[in-house]
Amino acid sequence: MQYGYFNDDLREYVITTPRTPLPWINYLGNRDFFSLISNTAGGYSFYKDAKLRRLTRYRYNACPPDQNGRYYYIKDGSCIWNPGWQPTQTELDRYTCRHGLGYTVISGEKNGVSAELTCFVPLNDPCEVNRLVLENRSAEIKDLDIFSLVEFCLWNAVDDATNFQRNYNTGEVEVDGSAIYHITEYRERRNHYAVFAVNTAIEGFDTSRDAFCGPYRGFSSPETVCNGCSKNSIAHGWAPVGSHHIRLHLQPGEKRSLLFVLAYIENPLEEKWEAPGVIAKIRAKELLARYREDQQAEFAFAELHNYWSGLLNRFSVCTGDEKLDRMVNVWNQYQCMVTFNLSRSASYFESGTGRGMGFRDSCQDLLGFVHLVPSRARQRILDIAATQFEDGSAYHQYQPLTKKGNSDIGSGFNDDPLWLIACVSAYLRETGDFSILQENVPFQNDEKKVRPLLEHLRRSFDFTVSRKGPHGLPLIGRADWNDCLNLNCFSTEPGESFQTCSNMESRKAESVFIAGMFVKYGGEYADLCDWLGDTAEAARARAEIEKVRTATETSGWDGEWFLRAYDAFGKPVGSRTCEEGQIYIEPQGMCVMAGIGVENGLADKALNSVMERLETPYGVMLLQPAYTCYHAELGEITSYPPGYKENASIFCHNNPWISCAEAVLGHGERAFHIYRLTCPAYVEAFSEIHRTEPYVYSQTVAGSDAKTFGEAKNSWLTGSAAWNFVNISQYILGIRPGLEGLEIDPCIPRWMKGFTVHRVYRGANYYITVDNTAGVEKGVAAMKVNGRPVAGNRVLLENARSEYNVEVIMG
Ligand code: BGC
Ligand code: NOJ
Repeated sequence: MQYGYFNDDLREYVITTPRTPLPWINYLGNRDFFSLISNTAGGYSFYKDAKLRRLTRYRYNACPPDQNGRYYYIKDGSCIWNPGWQPTQTELDRYTCRHGLGYTVISGEKNGVSAELTCFVPLNDPCEVNRLVLENRSAEIKDLDIFSLVEFCLWNAVDDATNFQRNYNTGEVEVDGSAIYHITEYRERRNHYAVFAVNTAIEGFDTSRDAFCGPYRGFSSPETVCNGCSKNSIAHGWAPVGSHHIRLHLQPGEKRSLLFVLAYIENPLEEKWEAPGVIAKIRAKELLARYREDQQAEFAFAELHNYWSGLLNRFSVCTGDEKLDRMVNVWNQYQCMVTFNLSRSASYFESGTGRGMGFRDSCQDLLGFVHLVPSRARQRILDIAATQFEDGSAYHQYQPLTKKGNSDIGSGFNDDPLWLIACVSAYLRETGDFSILQENVPFQNDEKKVRPLLEHLRRSFDFTVSRKGPHGLPLIGRADWNDCLNLNCFSTEPGESFQTCSNMESRKAESVFIAGMFVKYGGEYADLCDWLGDTAEAARARAEIEKVRTATETSGWDGEWFLRAYDAFGKPVGSRTCEEGQIYIEPQGMCVMAGIGVENGLADKALNSVMERLETPYGVMLLQPAYTCYHAELGEITSYPPGYKENASIFCHNNPWISCAEAVLGHGERAFHIYRLTCPAYVEAFSEIHRTEPYVYSQTVAGSDAKTFGEAKNSWLTGSAAWNFVNISQYILGIRPGLEGLEIDPCIPRWMKGFTVHRVYRGANYYITVDNTAGVEKGVAAMKVNGRPVAGNRVLLENARSEYNVEVIMG
């Protein structure tokens, strides 16, 4: 069952009922100002950092769900309704929500009045624009009272939700004409405020939530709206809100457009006040003046549209499979932008207060983003590397506002350092900008400890080299990619965080997954050293890699698949000798991607075992059999009920690893089959089971042990976006950036008789045509570049050429 449909021409997902199984959201904003917006106009806004600079308040875990947003009430006689149905939930005569690239349009119609609300964050201003167009489609005159509403957050979202003894006293506002200023703490140490304004004269306003709602009433029936009259309330402490009242007299057929803007304004410290006690508004007024007229808003909206068209033009495919094309050309790349911007900080499952930017998360997000805006990827790499410790290890997270490592979570996830190599290598292969390696980057953000980025990579590599266990495999530390495989924690305290509790370094617990990563990304480091002419370092690196490869094929092999780990007692994890958790997905994918066991048949066996033991119709499970009881020696993974999250759900992040691994072995049918199982556009058909948005990946889908098998959770902010894009673009379609240029190596199902790709790469346009009339799964039989046959499957770079025509014949 579906709750909407894709409109490929407009690059939109159109939701046709407000009663989606869960709120289905979108993201507005590309750089500094971000908003989350659901299909009923719920959500919130923040500037750079969802924890430290929250503009509007949102109630997580609310019942009914999805409370607070940018709400517009329409009072038409005794009928009060919202274009997005919430919060009044008045039944609408017509409803659609169109989520597009960086914008959302919600349309509702009731009793002959239609309201269309277009929400977007312009490219160049820190604000959200809401354009509300009302049209009288009836035969009578309509006298409408329109009320806007946002509820302000007192900036620090954690404090806002916890420190009531203080913050019921601090709230302050200033009202100037149609502009409502939220100025809490501006008198003291803040030099920023928010403004919520409309481009027309207002009948009245409210800034006190209590006054707006009335005693013991909520946003679903606020007193102000029910009375049809604002109270002109000024908030003193308690809960400041912004609400305008506008009266409209509409003739039959008449249309009116209103522009509301919610903006974040920062003033230099010496320019905070325009008069004693009066905040300086000049910057706010300048910004608001840019969204005063409809044409201005339309222009900004068109700019946003063009921006996205330009970005998506950098990689597009035509395969003839409409679902595949819409994922590759639009939604997967769009999600990659969102994950790049927000890491795991703010979604409807991530409160924005817990996690900032993840070290490993951001490094991986970059893999799917680097082709879109390489210059931003460059800056991100430098920011991430600057949080690294001198011994190569990493803060697990950092705060986007300060860009400093977050000591609440600390360090000790031993895969982290290698992800830095992965993302730098991806950046270099995409851009050829080797100058980044010479950039001086501090360790631990300490300007006294500055070394070239290349040295950071060496330390990442050596971090693993110098931390190996009894079998010569890398030590796992607190955990590896699987945050919940905590082999050194032994937590017995209820509620203790597995991420931060004691971590008794046993120097025994080893990870076969990190071994695979080391062989793969260590190999990329060695290639880089060769490319730079440092053959001695390349040889040293390769010797270390060989040791780990051998250890993996011997001590990391269980007979039919790769082991997952050794625990702190030296017992195997992910082995047929275990009672539960006999086989895990991660090492099968990563080791095969690294090329381990490809020549001697181990890789084939491992992937067959995955197919037999882990695959389901909804994707590949993380492990089997699921753990049924808690094991202190394994940690959080066994804390989840069977089938959920890391305990045997379908983790969408590592499904593409299996698909990539199948492609490494030349299995195009299998690679594509695995790709499809979790791919949103294919999953759309059973949205009532899947429940999260059908246009983006979710982190996890309940596995076969769960009662809710097939149900997804944690949509949007997941490494699944980047990895699926890497998989489909580089492994399946096989357009792979290398140090020397593009390599074309498709691995596709036999029925796919060919495809074309347009790719912008290192400043040139590549038009690639792949012909698979032969119906093979892999193999390039012949290739022509600009009409000339070439040997092999690499497109060598030619100086000053801006266009490459590449014809590939598979066979
Ligand atoms: C989740 C993981 C997550 C970790 C860190 C765990 O509870 O299951 O997926 O990475 O927390 O926040
Ligand atoms: C989510 C985290 O963000 C990611 O870093 C981790 O790899 C997965 N969970 C698996 O535990």
